[in-house]
Amino acid sequence: MKTLKECGFFAEKIVENGNKFFIGNGYLGYRGTLDEFGAKECVGLNVAGLYDGVKGKWRETVNAFNPFFCAVYAGGRPLDARGENVLSHEVELDLAEGIFRRKTVFLVGGGHVTLACERFVSAAEKNLLCSRMSLTSDMDASFFVKAGVDPAVWDLNGPHFADVGTHCEGHRIAVCAKTQELHIPVCVVCAFSETLQNVCGGIGGLEVSLKAGETFVLDRVARVLVGEETYSEADYGEALAAHRREWARLWSLARVDAAGDERAQFALDYSIYHLLILAPRGRYSIAARGLSGQTYKGAVFWDTEIFLLPFYMEVLPECAKRLIQYRIDTLPEAKKKAESYGFGGAFYAWESQNGYDACSDFNVTDVFTHRPVRTYFKEKQIHISADVAYAILQYYEHTHDDALMLEGGIETVLECAQFARTYSYYNHIKGRYELLDVIGPDEYHERVNNNAYTNYMFYMTAKEGVALAEEFAQRYPARCEEIFARLPKNIVQTLKEWTEKLYLPQPNAEGVIEQFDGYFRCEDVGVDEVRSRLRHPNEYWGGSGGVATATRVIKQADVIMLFNLYPDLFPERIRRANYDFYLPYTEHGSSLSRCSYAIAACGIGRREEAYDAFLESAEIDLRGGGKQWAGEIYIGGTHPAASGGAWIAAVHGLGYKKKGQTK
Ligand code: BGC
Repeated sequence: MKTLKECGFFAEKIVENGNKFFIGNGYLGYRGTLDEFGAKECVGLNVAGLYDGVKGKWRETVNAFNPFFCAVYAGGRPLDARGENVLSHEVELDLAEGIFRRKTVFLVGGGHVTLACERFVSAAEKNLLCSRMSLTSDMDASFFVKAGVDPAVWDLNGPHFADVGTHCEGHRIAVCAKTQELHIPVCVVCAFSETLQNVCGGIGGLEVSLKAGETFVLDRVARVLVGEETYSEADYGEALAAHRREWARLWSLARVDAAGDERAQFALDYSIYHLLILAPRGRYSIAARGLSGQTYKGAVFWDTEIFLLPFYMEVLPECAKRLIQYRIDTLPEAKKKAESYGFGGAFYAWESQNGYDACSDFNVTDVFTHRPVRTYFKEKQIHISADVAYAILQYYEHTHDDALMLEGGIETVLECAQFARTYSYYNHIKGRYELLDVIGPDEYHERVNNNAYTNYMFYMTAKEGVALAEEFAQRYPARCEEIFARLPKNIVQTLKEWTEKLYLPQPNAEGVIEQFDGYFRCEDVGVDEVRSRLRHPNEYWGGSGGVATATRVIKQADVIMLFNLYPDLFPERIRRANYDFYLPYTEHGSSLSRCSYAIAACGIGRREEAYDAFLESAEIDLRGGGKQWAGEIYIGGTHPAASGGAWIAAVHGLGYKKKGQTK
């Protein structure tokens, strides 16, 4: 397996490389920054499922203190990759073993000094991360090594810690604090292979004298302790060996063979690497930007159920179960959300933080007026509940895990259907139920009626949910009686009647399904024309007055998504007509879009187009260069859904074989 490598230092790539060379273990994520960097360079040690909100700001995941900080000085001058005395610099990410390495050679007083580091977030132990720094000189030389646990944290909406205290005991340094909102203790404890002197504020120092050719090594073994977790010592070598063993196991399960196509192989390996470092280890789910930072508030979107779950179901089923469990666990919050808007059933959080909907009413700032723009994602993107139900049904089909269905699965699916039923209106003139005032996957057209994706998805939720409930009622009558006692009376019968009358938009004479009522009447212009109308590069395309709002231009795959999730609903002729119709109108303004078209293209025999879209998706974080900042808001990070979507396209579309698979 190839290693991702970059030679030379580029200051403008600091933030981008933080994402590109990112390491993690599903619980902790550490950005691909350099040891001499700090909060300003977006060093980040992100903790999954740990949220904090500071008054008046967006609630987001917490970044912990940085145990890998290290600055080396020679004759008072820093050995820094940004310095003028750099002879060579390279960073690499070993995809096979989840190890980050850097090597920088400096010219110091006529001699060469090599600063190297390797680091990993343990795949074997949830809260463990380690690094080894080495310093070699080809002349006799003296250095001052400054190292410790850096208490300065990079936050988007922080600071998230109160009562920060630093402690030092022998070779160990700890920085401990409590989160602002819930007062959860967070402590980063780091054991160093050398005892640092004069430790103050988490940072200490060490004089190092080297004879020509000698190497100085500083190992660190750090733990991030949250809540009641207790510290235990670990050995660098043993930790590394256990980490390597676990990576070998993970790849033995996950490897996909791209049939000799080197570019596809590398892109796919990189995508799978990202999926492996996000595999959850506890009762939480995967955030839209993974563990690469606090973008999108560290919240969980439909991305997880629709774009990520298939990988975990087939490769790491225990993780798939956790993703499903997360939605079952947060059913009470979804029911509360539905109730708060006057509906029944379960309306899942559009941006879930352990069930709480973190989606703001104003998700965008107008670049001209600097005023917040009202967006309706939280209230109107109701398809999230259908997506959750879809995932549960898929999971069941794949695993036949009756226990999970009896312990919340069936209830959740039925509550999601029930929500849509109570949300719908009965159109007396047309004699049908309609889902009015919604937002489909395409966020540029808000508050539309009868979004085809949404209507069909809820139709299937209710239909399949009812069928499953009936089957289980036969097989587990006593258990199901308990379940039905918690659900609205006659729910199965009511849902059955509802599905019979729910409006399902049909293909027109050309075979195209209208994305929502009136979509065909929108201005018929393409993506380039709409782009040419922008007066500011960061202008928002949607909302009430966006450039795309009154046109046919859509942000991302919408109707097409339906065919990907339910390929048998429509014949190939219809799927092809819709693909050809909607592609020219699709901006791909979301990283969820290209892979959706890749999957769709496979389904209609367009292999070449599928391949190109697959690469676009799989290489998204390798390519980088996308938007990292919107005004003063950092919006960068990795794109797990694009990795997951690329995997689906590769394995279920392009026909790349999983390891050991022959057919
Ligand atoms: C997309 C959503 C997606 C979210 C998080 C948005 O830009 O429109 O579909 O869930 O990003 O990835």
